[in-house]
Amino acid sequence: MASVLFKNARIMTMNEEGKVIEGDVLIVDDRIAHVGAEIDEAADEIIDAEGKIMLPGFVQTHIHLCQTLFRGRADDLELLDWLKERIWPLEAAHDDDSVYYSAMLGIGELIRSGTTTILDMETVRHTASAFRAMEESGIRALSGKVMMDHGRDLPPGLLESTERSLQESVDLLEAWHGRANGRLQYAFCPRFVVSCTEELLIGVRDLSKRYQVKVHTHASENRGEIALVEEERGMRNVVYLDHIGLATPDLILAHCVWLSEEEKEIIRDRGVKVTHCPGSNLKLASGIAEIPDLLRKRIGVGIGSDGAPCNNTLDMFSEMRMTALIQKTKHGPTAMNARTVLRMATMGGAEVLGLEEEIGSIESGKKADLMLLDLDEFHAYPSYETDPYSRIVYSAGCGDVDTVMIDGRFVMRNKQLLTIDKNTVLKEADRSIKRLLKRIV
Ligand code: GUN
Ligand code: FE
Repeated sequence: MASVLFKNARIMTMNEEGKVIEGDVLIVDDRIAHVGAEIDEAADEIIDAEGKIMLPGFVQTHIHLCQTLFRGRADDLELLDWLKERIWPLEAAHDDDSVYYSAMLGIGELIRSGTTTILDMETVRHTASAFRAMEESGIRALSGKVMMDHGRDLPPGLLESTERSLQESVDLLEAWHGRANGRLQYAFCPRFVVSCTEELLIGVRDLSKRYQVKVHTHASENRGEIALVEEERGMRNVVYLDHIGLATPDLILAHCVWLSEEEKEIIRDRGVKVTHCPGSNLKLASGIAEIPDLLRKRIGVGIGSDGAPCNNTLDMFSEMRMTALIQKTKHGPTAMNARTVLRMATMGGAEVLGLEEEIGSIESGKKADLMLLDLDEFHAYPSYETDPYSRIVYSAGCGDVDTVMIDGRFVMRNKQLLTIDKNTVLKEADRSIKRLLKRIV
């Protein structure tokens, strides 16, 4: 048994009552054993966290690690052009090596900025490489290969047969689901209705039920996408997903910017979950999702930064700030306050992933996924009787994360990554993208 005792931290528990405690946290192996004002137990290591804020690790519920290598190569486009002109040809040119370094680059950025759990959508091929990066880096992840058996304007290499898409997904699930002490899980990831036949979506519905795993897709992100779905399937996007029986508590929809009242009711009544991606929605000119209304309807909403080429960062601090600010001009200054947003970024995300008993708060019995923030900086002062939620959501930044632990293992200390060699990953990222660009057909 290995134990770590954090002393004298300011602990933002993010528990049901929203308690903030000045005190200690004992970690034994991969779990939080005890949280209290003063813990006097022996531990293998004692860490003086005086002056630091302890937070549960951020949970991001929509990421594409396979796209990190494409950062800065698809700016200033709308969704469908962004996919057809840039992202699909780039994804089609991936190989095992480039997917691995794309994932490592993304995970390095995520851990560096306090994200400990992700829901990730990979590309059509080479997904085992991404799982390998997730296993080695220590991040907690639900991930799956993207599924695409339908659609126009696809480069060779992305379009797959229905049968192969389902079989490869099952093969990956059997290889990776539950690996690394349960830290890795599989999720079925049909890309969006536009790129999936009904047969594929129904296959996903049945397999997800059989294996008890999540289904993750994009829905109602862009008005052009919705028009395409209506044209082909004769229904609005979420109405269609419900029509074929995919709308269940295990379905997690990214975006949901343009929902009808009927679609919001389906999401609420079926227990479907939503991921809000404000940075991506602004940059791709998709629109502003009605998050205050979804929360009022008690729909589960998490936050995600989406892929690097539509944001262009994977930084949860930036995403939290946007989540709060973009609602205010339309719905007033109190529409999304700092505390609501920080809850979405932690417990809210855990609930979306069905991991609310395991992560999302600093409580005894939960997995030890946490960070220490050092806010002794100009931009976060004064500290005297300042609301900590306000400091974290409105003032803090990714550079303030000092230490990160996932599953009881330190993955960053004193701002140094411990599981990822930064210099190697940066160098290999440049080498990989250079070679990948030469493979584009
Ligand atoms: N819709 C279908 N594929 C994608 C993708 O890769 N990113 C985003 N933002 N939306 C999508
Ligand atoms: Fe996405």
